[in-house]
Amino acid sequence: MIRPLFWEEDHLVLLDQSRLPWEERWLALRSWEEVAEAIKELKVRGAPAIGIAAAYALVLAAQNPREGRSPAEEALLAAAELRKTRPTAVNLFSALSRMESLIQAKPNASDLPVRLLSEARRIHEEDIAANRRMGELGAALLPENARVLTICNTGALATGGYGTALGVIRAAFAQGKIRMVYACETRPVLQGARLTAWELLREGIPFRLMADFAAGLLFRRGEVDAVLAGADRIAQNGDFANKVGTYVLAVLSQRHGVPFYVVAPSTTFDLSLASGEGIPIEERPEEEVLAPYGFRLAPKGARAWNPAFDLTPGELVWAFVTEKGVIRPPYERTIPAALSG
Ligand code: MRU
Repeated sequence: MIRPLFWEEDHLVLLDQSRLPWEERWLALRSWEEVAEAIKELKVRGAPAIGIAAAYALVLAAQNPREGRSPAEEALLAAAELRKTRPTAVNLFSALSRMESLIQAKPNASDLPVRLLSEARRIHEEDIAANRRMGELGAALLPENARVLTICNTGALATGGYGTALGVIRAAFAQGKIRMVYACETRPVLQGARLTAWELLREGIPFRLMADFAAGLLFRRGEVDAVLAGADRIAQNGDFANKVGTYVLAVLSQRHGVPFYVVAPSTTFDLSLASGEGIPIEERPEEEVLAPYGFRLAPKGARAWNPAFDLTPGELVWAFVTEKGVIRPPYERTIPAALSG
């Protein structure tokens, strides 16, 4: 199975997702600043993977404090800076908070880097275990011979390994239940075309890549049995942020009576938010729309608007598949109950 990032001796190794599928370039990151840059530049992306990378970044910080700073001071400073890299995925913030608690409990421990490394590894392993459990639970929701639609990349690359929505597809395929995966190419930076297609090809799972707005015709023809999406942050009432385009798919699902499932670990829920209104939506550089990967599509002088995520109301979600179980409405009540267990 693909592991998009792992710890090796004293540094973090990361598959540069901004170069896939053209080049499989592995980066050796030795400072927390390099990890922060990698997160900003989408070299590592996907809510759980960002959180895991940030956790490892704090180990790097504690290993190599700058002149005049203690390991704990350097790690806390790194955490504050890492929080500024990408605002939407709550996994980043939950992983950093978990690491910070450990630092604050014993800031002067001489083995702080070792203890931080164990915690980062735990965060990583727990994510993979959660993905596997969600895979089983989600696969059980699908009919035989399922034709499923997905958006962005929610696979091994977006997580510690295995995947969320794509993990469900993996598990269902292993059970012989997948007839076809329709993968949205996911403009503007094409996580579907570049990354999901790359993973599905490696696994031998049948798929068709499609332009994002081909989804309407697919629903209209009755050729989709379920939508499987990931999430970057889920509020208490089930409103959630995910890759821009997800809301359109949810509306289409409702119009056509097709089940719409969100697959996300408990680390993606933000119970401090009663609704999605408080979720910060990241806006990324205009160039990603105007000239993705250096190829200018729009005339010089054109301006773009580039929200990386959109917001889908919880009322459009048939169920959330988490490692703690499948959560169904009414979410105001069922989400807090499921997560406290
Ligand atoms: O901008 P990205 O590529 O980080 O966006 C990723 C998504 O929107 C995913 O659907 C989400 O993070 C869940 S990944 C398991």
